[in-house]
Amino acid sequence: MGKSLLLFLAAALVSPGFGGALAQTAYPSKPITVIVPFAAGGPTDVVTRIVGEHMSRTLGRQLVVENVGGAGGTTGMTRAAQAEPDGYTIAVGNMGTQSAAPALYANLKYDPAKSFTQIGIVNFTPQAIVSKKGLPAGDLKAFIAYVKANQATTSQGHAGVGSISHVSGTLFNHLFGLKPNLVVYRGTGPALNDLVGGHIDYMVDQSLNVIPQIQGGSIKAYAIAATARLESLPDVPTTGEAGVDFIFSAWNGMVGPKGLPPEIVATLVAALAKAHDDQTIKARFVELGSTGPAGADRGPAGLQKLVESEVARITPVLKAAGATAN
Ligand code: MLT
Repeated sequence: MGKSLLLFLAAALVSPGFGGALAQTAYPSKPITVIVPFAAGGPTDVVTRIVGEHMSRTLGRQLVVENVGGAGGTTGMTRAAQAEPDGYTIAVGNMGTQSAAPALYANLKYDPAKSFTQIGIVNFTPQAIVSKKGLPAGDLKAFIAYVKANQATTSQGHAGVGSISHVSGTLFNHLFGLKPNLVVYRGTGPALNDLVGGHIDYMVDQSLNVIPQIQGGSIKAYAIAATARLESLPDVPTTGEAGVDFIFSAWNGMVGPKGLPPEIVATLVAALAKAHDDQTIKARFVELGSTGPAGADRGPAGLQKLVESEVARITPVLKAAGATAN
């Protein structure tokens, strides 16, 4: 190699343009912050940590979870929407923050379908209807009758207006004319702790969050709001089996701020797909009553389609149930 070629290469490597190109191809070159818009220990946090740990191994850089709770998850998602689109701040929102919130917050600072770069669906999980261990009801119908007869003294926990536990709980209560006292948390992780402690009476929450406590007998489960029983809870009936017409599937989705470069999106999409294909993660999802997206629903297009169809589906349902942010 001639001296002039060597000098040219040395100069190119230190020039800003060339350095920029190298930095792009080297993504990620530092840890990636993943905003979880709810408290630690809840379903969004748990599923993010499961796939995040696998993605960290694939990407060679850590995905660091930052819990930014408040306002039913909309505080954290607003921060994610307003972040620099450089691939170092992404987020995992859910069916609440990404499809119910627009119907409930007049001044929401993001549009779930337009303010983000969609990366992909993380998981689906049916809601479970659960109560504190000591609540005197043997099945779902008896539980509904109990709440109706005692609503002035009965409390329901949820993760803030627009969260999945709030939306699904609101629809469940509306269906049966229940008006419990609502107790608001920054996520259903802390709400579940209070349910186990007997400080609140019931929740409609993601199976993912409550399966270990149901299995351990520290809370009671009346039904899974799905058409089939969960493999990990073979004794808990579906809502249909329990005589009630209430189906509710929750989901989580990974997003970045709008304008994320396509090559960064492709890197994250591939890492998420690799996590979904991992047998250990598949088995963990089954244990937690969750499923990953089917092949055709993976990636940005699958999540975009889901967000748009869920906003269209849930907005009129919430209006009909009279749900508001107050
Ligand atoms: C919800 O109700 O939206 C979630 O359960 C919140 C959470 O992940 O804690």
